Parts: sequence; structure tokens; C-alpha cells
Amino acid sequence: MFQTAMIDQADKKEFYRELAQQLTGLLHGERDVIANAANTSALMFEMMPELNWAGFYFLKSKDELVLGPFQGRTACVRIAVGRGVCGTAVEKGQSILVEDVHAFPGHIACDAASRSELVVPLSHNGEILGVIDLDSPVTSRFDADDQAGIEALADIFVAASY
Ligand code: SME
Repeated sequence: MFQTAMIDQADKKEFYRELAQQLTGLLHGERDVIANAANTSALMFEMMPELNWAGFYFLKSKDELVLGPFQGRTACVRIAVGRGVCGTAVEKGQSILVEDVHAFPGHIACDAASRSELVVPLSHNGEILGVIDLDSPVTSRFDADDQAGIEALADIFVAASY
């Protein structure tokens, strides 16, 4: 049984180094995408402070994301590429950090409590497979360290699962 260990929050870079180690251990020896996405969501939601949603959307066709495993409140199931923060991250092929969701044109509000958001694409051999989406009830919850940290987790998830 995998045991999560609490991580000191004081140094964010160190926090993400340790979270990456825990995720590597958690996914070791398992290649099922749904199981790995479910456990990655649970680890992020348990370990990262001030989140109200953590999970995955997967590209099921070239123009639409579909909800995957997550932790948090029920969410919209389908997001067109180019729509919302998630669809924009896929269209641009890059992470998007939104300090204030009310200032992001086209933001899709799944949970009215959300104030800031971080979306990181999942890339495999140059192809985008989906995104990791994190929501926070706190404005400006995410910064460049969070973005780099979650991009590293996305790489670990993809390497383990595809
Ligand atoms: N806010 C996202 C939609 C997904 S939910 O936050 C879980 C967006 O604008 O794409």
C-alpha cells in the first residue's frame, strides 16, 4: 500500500521535487491511464493546499476534451478545443496560469468558488493528449514554481501511462 508523506510547504521548489518523487513511486509498475490519472488527482488534491478541484481532461477527438478522473465538485464533461482555460491550453499547446478567473475571457465556471486556475497540457511525442487542471478558491494561488512543478508531474504521468 502506497503511503503519502506530508511535505513541508516552505520551499516550493523542494515541495515539488518531493511531490514528483511521491508520484513516481505511486505510479511505478502501473500503466493503466485511468488508474494513474485517478491517483495523480488524489495525490495533488491531498498534498497541495488551497485547491477546490484537481483533475484531468482528455482529448477524445481533435476538437474536444472530455472529463477524466478528478477530485472536487462535479464538473462540465465536454470542453471544445479553444474554449475556456483548458481548451485554450490545448489550442496553444502550452500551460496557462490564470491569477483571476473573472479576468479570463471565456473561463468556464464549474465551481463558483474558483478564483484562480492552472492548466498544464499532457504531451507525448509532440502530441497533446489532454490537460491537468487545478482550481483554487484563492486569487493568485498559482505562480511559476507551481507551473514548473505541475509540468514535471504531467511528464511523470505521461511517461508512466503511455
Ligand atoms: N475552468 C475550466 C473548466 C474546467 S473546471 O474548472 C473543472 C476552463 O475554463 O476550461
